[in-house]
Amino acid sequence: MSNLIVTNIGMLATPQGKGPKKGPEQGDIKILNDAWVLIKDGVIAGVGQGKLPEQYDNLDLSTVKTVDAQGKLVTPGLVDAHTHLIFGGWRQNELGMKLHGKTYLEIQNAGGGIQSTTNATRQSTEEELTQKAARALNEMMGFGVTTCEAKSGYGLATEHELKALQVIKNLNDRHAMDIVATFMGAHLVPAEYKANRAEYIRLVCEEMMPKVKEQGIAKYCDVFCEADTFTKEESRQVLEAGLKYGLRPKIHADEIEAIGGSQLAGEIGAISAEHLIVCPPEGIASLAKGGVIACLLPATSFYLGAVFAPARDMVNAGVPVAMATDFNPGSCPCLNLQFVINLGCLKYKLTPEEVLTAVTLNAAAAIDMAEKVGSVEAGKQGDLVIWDAPDLDYICYRMGSNLTQTVIKKGTVVVG
Ligand code: NIG
Ligand code: FE
Repeated sequence: MSNLIVTNIGMLATPQGKGPKKGPEQGDIKILNDAWVLIKDGVIAGVGQGKLPEQYDNLDLSTVKTVDAQGKLVTPGLVDAHTHLIFGGWRQNELGMKLHGKTYLEIQNAGGGIQSTTNATRQSTEEELTQKAARALNEMMGFGVTTCEAKSGYGLATEHELKALQVIKNLNDRHAMDIVATFMGAHLVPAEYKANRAEYIRLVCEEMMPKVKEQGIAKYCDVFCEADTFTKEESRQVLEAGLKYGLRPKIHADEIEAIGGSQLAGEIGAISAEHLIVCPPEGIASLAKGGVIACLLPATSFYLGAVFAPARDMVNAGVPVAMATDFNPGSCPCLNLQFVINLGCLKYKLTPEEVLTAVTLNAAAAIDMAEKVGSVEAGKQGDLVIWDAPDLDYICYRMGSNLTQTVIKKGTVVVG
């Protein structure tokens, strides 16, 4: 495990604490100028300002590897709390359909969409999926992400859902990225069960979930609660079954139509509800009451040509807001969390401070990792980004460039 000091930090910008921030606290971050951060054995040992001490925590600092931040911005490593990382193929053919006016659900109902990615995923071996996802993880790290969530959900058959979760486990063991796995067998009713939805739900709950638990390969259970996909009651059934197998609920809610997903999230005590593009006021109230984190995915709104989630109303209602990419081959083929940062300011009208919390501490809390990551403080993992930027406003304002200069994971330079 590595010891490292980052010196000459022009601006250190970080939320603080081990849990999600809501309301006015979401924008209440710590800014330190002329700062340094010491990482010992992969964990942050100290954060200070001005001249470095010679000795810290029984460590002679002259012996520790130094990274000079050259007066630039440093933030916590970013956390991408919602990705559909594991899939075969791509769906560039759907772009033309979209341009000819077909909607997302029309493409899905015609056998495109999730079903076509499911066919490609079933045909891919564990090794092929591992190689492909590893390339995506490398790209994500290049954009400053040091922790992410990854879902299954393109297998939609026991063998293939378990295969996808095994790929996530392999990658978590081998890749520098920390990866948290979510089981999403209820992403779509696959073609072979279209005439018997109840049987597919039974399969998810009674065959897939016990195996997922037995193999210990997922922490969360997610469901696509959406028109033409899973109803509110089916979604409740899936999430309640997940709870029996120790899988905490997450839910794709109010992405295209509001059919009660956000209310269900609050009722069932989901750790997070995702998308919430068309979340109604009673949905926001339910999230606030249930202590659910809103995990917003603005790049998906952008890609679907949809409206943007009512983020400000959520902050005002005391719902902690996280933001993530939703990386997937259909509604958001984008791995760049920096673009999400731009959209958070420009479309949600969140402040740079609120946005930083959304992609670090609140995102970490949405995957129950806030004890370890999401802020630069003594005791947290040594995950940092040095940006080619003088301050926080700059990374929110610039667009289309990759502004990471150096990415540090557990005290080791992994990019730059
Ligand atoms: O979050 N909404 C469900 N799942 C993904 C899209 C999946 C796909 O189109 O392949 C999403 O948007
Ligand atoms: Fe998603």
